[in-house]
Amino acid sequence: MKRTIAMLLMLGCAMMALAQPTTIKVKKYGAKPLCFSSVEEWEMVHRPVIYNFFEREVYGRVPMYQPAVTYELLRTDSALNGKAVCKQVAMNVAGMKTPVLILLYLPADAKTPVPAFLGVNFMGNHQITNDEFVIVSPNAPLAKQLKSKRARGTSTSRWPLDMIIDAGYAVATIYRGDVDPDYDDGFQNGIHPSFYRQGQTAPAVDEWGAIGAWAWGLSRTMDYLETESAIDSKHVAVIGHSRLGKTALWAAAQDTRFAMAISNNSGCGGAALSIRKHGETVAKINKTFPHWFCDNYNKYSNNEEALFVDQQGLIALIAPRPVYVASATLDDWADPEGEFLSALYASPVYELYGKKGLEAKKMPAPDSPIHGGSVAYHVRTGKHDITSYDWEQYIKFAKYHFGR
Ligand code: GCU
Repeated sequence: MKRTIAMLLMLGCAMMALAQPTTIKVKKYGAKPLCFSSVEEWEMVHRPVIYNFFEREVYGRVPMYQPAVTYELLRTDSALNGKAVCKQVAMNVAGMKTPVLILLYLPADAKTPVPAFLGVNFMGNHQITNDEFVIVSPNAPLAKQLKSKRARGTSTSRWPLDMIIDAGYAVATIYRGDVDPDYDDGFQNGIHPSFYRQGQTAPAVDEWGAIGAWAWGLSRTMDYLETESAIDSKHVAVIGHSRLGKTALWAAAQDTRFAMAISNNSGCGGAALSIRKHGETVAKINKTFPHWFCDNYNKYSNNEEALFVDQQGLIALIAPRPVYVASATLDDWADPEGEFLSALYASPVYELYGKKGLEAKKMPAPDSPIHGGSVAYHVRTGKHDITSYDWEQYIKFAKYHFGR
């Protein structure tokens, strides 16, 4: 009897929650600061509407049908002169010819589970390190030539493993091409076909593109990290540079297990406000990278005014979890000021939760990070890249919010 009453009560609450969004009229949010009166109003009304917009109109939704995913530890090695333990795990997705390879570096001397940075890499796991034992994905460019070592370790500057391990953090990464190749293949390779219904040959107009797929890969890696006893899975920061920064933001918006999100030079379709049409625009990105977003996003090419909410909405979806947006002075293509404004306009949502938003109303000077609140920002001197300067700031921010 008690159970029946409890069930009825829960059902009543759920029906009220469902009824709510339709009873309050929601107007277009556009590219303004997102100001609401309470956490309840945000969570019950605006967040679902904004989430739905990004899911159906921008990145595309993940289809309901989910293929089986299993994990297999391939090898464990000592790394960085004994300072780290490196684990490599195959994530096998039913229907895919090759696994998604997870590369994990853990501080060797940790006595308790450690927090971690998790991100997708551009060129293959073997590129983030010179360690010879790191498996070369068959999907990586130059995989065949790699027998000649040529392409090993070319992205080490983007993944300062020593610095991260010394800070007491783990690093986990997967290669974008293992999840979904980064070219317009009509979604015939990568994970999309594993999700097709019978007879389906391409995602529907509101279904995911490559960014959605890479974000899915991050969540499935998080599933694995939750089973890894050396990792404190409650403190995993999802990080990404450029297109993979767009991916990190969308991954964190969808999956609340990510305790922090870091967007490095993510630009158009990432942190930057689209309405400014500064640098890359929606039309340009849809034309050059037709496979990144869902087909519905084409509606906004040269039509940014029609966007129900701009990219500040994406950042707000991560609240109250800390978020760091970073730009580079020479990266005009990614519109540094547009990235800054998004962080600023998302801040009122953080404040609803009693958190400090971005502690600046105007673009800060180069190399003057603002990370006293839960929304952080810096613009680094230099070009489009992720450097040790950027990582130093992210580690400081993580240490502050993760308490170590
Ligand atoms: C291109 C693209 C950007 C993207 C970048 C990258 O410049 O236009 O949107 O962020 O590549 O991923 O490096």
